[in-house]
Amino acid sequence: MCGIFAVVNDKHNSSAQTVLEGLKKLEYRGYDSWGIAMKPKGGQVLQVEKHIGKIGQASTSLPAGSIAIGHTRWATHGGVTDTNAHPHLDCTKQIAVLHNGIVENYQELKAKLLTQGHVFISETDTEVIAHLIEEKQKTAKIETAVFETFKELAGSNAIAVLDSKTESVIACRNGSPLVVGMGKDDYYLASDVPAFLKFTNAVHFLLDGEAVILTKTGVSLHDVETHEKKNLVTQHLDWKVEDAEKGGFPHFLLKEIMEQKKTIPKTSQINGEELKKVADKIKIHKKVVMVACGTAFYCALAAKYFFAQSGVQAQTYPAYEFLPFAKFCDKDTVFIAISQSGETADTLIAARNAKKAGAYVVAVINARGSTLERLADSTLLVGAGPEIAVVSTKAFTSQLATLYLLAHDVGGNIVTAQKNLKHLGQVLEGWLNQTLLDKVIALAKNILSHEDMYLIGKHLNYPSTLEFALKIKEASYIHAEPFAAGELKHGVISLIQKGTICFVLAGNDEVKNEVLSSAAELRARGGYIIGIAPFQATEFDTTIQTPDVGDLTLFPNVIVGQLLGYFLGVGRGTDPDKPRNLAKSVTVK
Ligand code: M6R
Repeated sequence: MCGIFAVVNDKHNSSAQTVLEGLKKLEYRGYDSWGIAMKPKGGQVLQVEKHIGKIGQASTSLPAGSIAIGHTRWATHGGVTDTNAHPHLDCTKQIAVLHNGIVENYQELKAKLLTQGHVFISETDTEVIAHLIEEKQKTAKIETAVFETFKELAGSNAIAVLDSKTESVIACRNGSPLVVGMGKDDYYLASDVPAFLKFTNAVHFLLDGEAVILTKTGVSLHDVETHEKKNLVTQHLDWKVEDAEKGGFPHFLLKEIMEQKKTIPKTSQINGEELKKVADKIKIHKKVVMVACGTAFYCALAAKYFFAQSGVQAQTYPAYEFLPFAKFCDKDTVFIAISQSGETADTLIAARNAKKAGAYVVAVINARGSTLERLADSTLLVGAGPEIAVVSTKAFTSQLATLYLLAHDVGGNIVTAQKNLKHLGQVLEGWLNQTLLDKVIALAKNILSHEDMYLIGKHLNYPSTLEFALKIKEASYIHAEPFAAGELKHGVISLIQKGTICFVLAGNDEVKNEVLSSAAELRARGGYIIGIAPFQATEFDTTIQTPDVGDLTLFPNVIVGQLLGYFLGVGRGTDPDKPRNLAKSVTVK
């Protein structure tokens, strides 16, 4: 995944600066290198600036001009070098190309272009696009050349092309997201809305197979296949500029963790009718399959327990393991795909297969205008607002709260479920504060130097253990291994020795005593036991006490893991917003 941003008819004639600032908002999409191409005022030749490393504090010395494009890269083909950073130019240096995706047939295209005399500078798949457009433009208008080039690219791709001669930006989408922002006389194109939210909230999300041409007189929408013009309809998003800012917090991650006081209870005020529609389908068919990746998959695992409480046996699969089981989907299946971004390649592939098999596809998503939203028969937007940190937090809890509501709607208990979430919101208001942060900081300092940690939980607190561990791994790079408490005796306990850090996640529920017995077994082997639970226990060496909110106790339990991952990361000098090697959404298989 990479970030694309372009501005046309920049208000202050400082397009390169505008693009640089917009790219900083997209850095979560890729942060190994960045670059900008622009046309200087009065000049003919495009000017380009590219650098490896993070864009955070960068500035640009590119000159004044009203049109520019830029890119933040998450490398796939070609190492992390200035040369491989985007934009890539054609031989004439009149055409600059940005790309998000993988050109699967680039070797073949490159071989042909080499025989035609084109000179390649980088090792990327992207550069073939610039030369292919150059070749086609010899006999066609630039937009025709771009559309026809795009049609030749195999794979999921989005491209944006700056043409110096016509002073236009032309972009096409197939798989990777693109959104147009309509200012008054200024126009924007980006992989995600936060890049231009400061200028406009009037947007059009491109569909697969659509293209846009941005010039200083406006934006036109086209069908890539036929080139025909289409009607461009804009919608106004209710997102505020502050949603995409740190708002006084040192990192987006901490801001987004703290926002959960509001985002979790918000879920009970949205999706009313759509929720009922999906619940009614499940009531008829009772065949539920949930699929997702990473954190969203742990959400599916937790939701499975909520469905069980409502008498529904839901199946869960990590999306990348779903294919052998797709054949069991049919017209009686309600297939729930959970995804923050709605762009995760494996989740999309699974959803497409389920749909092909006749399933009714429900998307539980946070980002707007995504591919998953488009292909779903029904969408539950979880309303957590922009999640910028690569480590997912508030999207997870909003997705889980939404599925909690859905499961209870199926069980005929929606009103109680709504009340419970409202109550959880009130409890979080009082608990998720500086006192808690101080406790978590003290714990983080205490265990900072450990390289291995183990975690156990049971039933609802088993998936929360998986998510807790993932937050520690992603944000601090500490090895944190989660297990079902019941698994301990079957081999895992051999890992425990004197001083081993062991977290025990629990609730005041029917398995509390079993979990405490497991904690005692860990302690007997010398483990240092950290209880994450709404009670104190003699089996714990230390405790971060969470509020007792019944079945919803896994929410505060996971929040402790989010905070601990964050503070361990800060303590160990990582960048918690942008962990090494990760991208916010994985749009490639
Ligand atoms: O956008 P998605 O929810 O589909 O993304 C799924 C995973 O890639 C994502 O949850 C990932 O595990 C995060 N890094 C978790 O913090």
